[in-house]
Amino acid sequence: MCGIVGYVGNLKAAPIILDGLKRLEYRGYDSAGVAIMADGEFNVAKQIGRVAGLQKTVAQKPIEGTRGIGHTRWATHGGVTRENSHPHLSNNGRIAIIHNGVIENYATIKKLLESKDFTFVSETDTEVLCNLISYHFDKEPETDEAGSRLLASVRRSLMHVQGTYGICVLSLDAPDELIAARQGSPLILGVGPEELVIASDVAALVSRTQNVVYLKDGELVRIKGTTFQISTMDEAGVSPVIDQVTWTVEDADMGDYEHYMLKEIFEQPAALENAMRGRFSADNSTAKFGGLNLTANELRGMGRFMFCACGTALHAGMVTEHLIERFARVPVECDHASEFRYRNTPLFTNTLFFVISQSGETIDTLAAMREAQRKGFKVLAINNVVGSSVAREADGGIYQHVGPEIGVASTKAFTSQLLIGAMLALYIGRMRDMSVRDGTEYVTALKGVPDLVRETLKTADHIKGIAERYSRFNDMLFLGRLELFPIALEGALKLKEISYIHAEAYPAAEIKHGPIALIDPECPSVFLVPQNELFNKVISSMQEIKARGGPIIAITTSDAELPEGLADEVIVIPACHEAILPIIATIPMQLFSYYVAVTRGCDVDKPRNLAKSVTVE
Ligand code: M6R
Repeated sequence: MCGIVGYVGNLKAAPIILDGLKRLEYRGYDSAGVAIMADGEFNVAKQIGRVAGLQKTVAQKPIEGTRGIGHTRWATHGGVTRENSHPHLSNNGRIAIIHNGVIENYATIKKLLESKDFTFVSETDTEVLCNLISYHFDKEPETDEAGSRLLASVRRSLMHVQGTYGICVLSLDAPDELIAARQGSPLILGVGPEELVIASDVAALVSRTQNVVYLKDGELVRIKGTTFQISTMDEAGVSPVIDQVTWTVEDADMGDYEHYMLKEIFEQPAALENAMRGRFSADNSTAKFGGLNLTANELRGMGRFMFCACGTALHAGMVTEHLIERFARVPVECDHASEFRYRNTPLFTNTLFFVISQSGETIDTLAAMREAQRKGFKVLAINNVVGSSVAREADGGIYQHVGPEIGVASTKAFTSQLLIGAMLALYIGRMRDMSVRDGTEYVTALKGVPDLVRETLKTADHIKGIAERYSRFNDMLFLGRLELFPIALEGALKLKEISYIHAEAYPAAEIKHGPIALIDPECPSVFLVPQNELFNKVISSMQEIKARGGPIIAITTSDAELPEGLADEVIVIPACHEAILPIIATIPMQLFSYYVAVTRGCDVDKPRNLAKSVTVE
């Protein structure tokens, strides 16, 4: 979850690292720190809080040096204190390290090191690893070149380690070098003409270079001056593949918006356009995807689909489940990746497995994918970040193409996952029983999504007014049915993650089985009530809430007529095809949670306790 950046080049390292950390802050923002090597010592600056605070400190007392490492922390081992902030130094002060991940057996290693008189100033697993490297470094033959000793000691230490890591290590004994390694946590090397930058995420690199090498699990990179060598834990050399990043710095900037989340909400028409581009058949009656790595026949032969994901991405999977079952008539299952990985669930032989992940680094999703692959299943990925771990390990997949999503609360990534899910249902449906006419109508609906989203975004001011009136409540219910139940779940998740209001979601008819006990004038309900076959049933659920004094916000379609006075607030979205309704219905949910959070003075882009990509279990 933490963000890490390392720099070796000819320019001052500190400002470059701090700029990178600022761009990575969505990975964690409990504390930040840098260690810069200059004149035979490490200059360390670290403090609790945001990178901006550290930037101020460093601006007042500039740090010289052209090699350094920096870290923005999401606390795992040990509280949010300066001592627990990275970088950590070894007892002798000669090795500095930053780490993203969790060393599971750190307690055992710590005991061993304590028996050898090592002491610790922090509660972190990272400081333990740092001293382990230092311990091994001192045991390497002194006749060897310091850089080789450092690489060997990092390798030896990592052999003892269980868990996940993306690390960067500096040593005063090898002042020209930086060693980085990964296992389960992402690391990307940016290759500039006269500098090398290493980071946990491309967002930190794009301001320096578009040329990157995605390191694989079990690989180490030794940076020496402006050259680098990659090798494995078994000391085998690896030929680097240099990829081009398509994102630009502007894509990752906030522009004139007050928050990334708002920018990303308003970017959705263009983002959804990109997600669809080039993905329809010439006769506009079905979808097409380039990277599935399956023949039409293989896909046609699949008797079942399984989707695994976490959080918002899981909600996209749940909508897709509904759409595939409805339009392609193939059974679909959807599971929390975190549960699937341990459930050892029996799977039908001809099941096609999908994972959905914006970042492509969510550890539970990766583990679920690996588990399915281990059982011999092909796994396809719906993923936004090109070159991510999920993208590289999947057997095929569909990129979302919506550009970097920086706000911790997922918005444009979610609606593009919904869009791709709807396209998938069409694609599979047309291979089965969906007619050309229905397919053509479906494609027309999909192509109209960007305009409908644009139209729905025009309700922003109206929704802002509602949000301001409702921001004082501490509990809310979100209710929807069929394909809109997962959208109710998403609405509740969005609200709780950025405004800290307790929110729960249910299929509307479920309220009478328990949740209705919560209803009173202090517990509003947000109802998704489109004109469809269950309209009257949802109206009945609303009546039940009304009868008990619960305030009601209704999100309804333009072709529906709500009974007069039933809802206290009404938000009207355009009537549209069932397959795209979840996308359109999501927009008011996003705006509502955004404006509620802003009214409550919450830090929308960096909600407490959260991080954008969850790379620890
Ligand atoms: O990167 P992923 O799509 O795998 O992330 C999964 C969840 O952590 C993520 O969707 C999370 O629930 C969002 N922050 C919610 O807005």
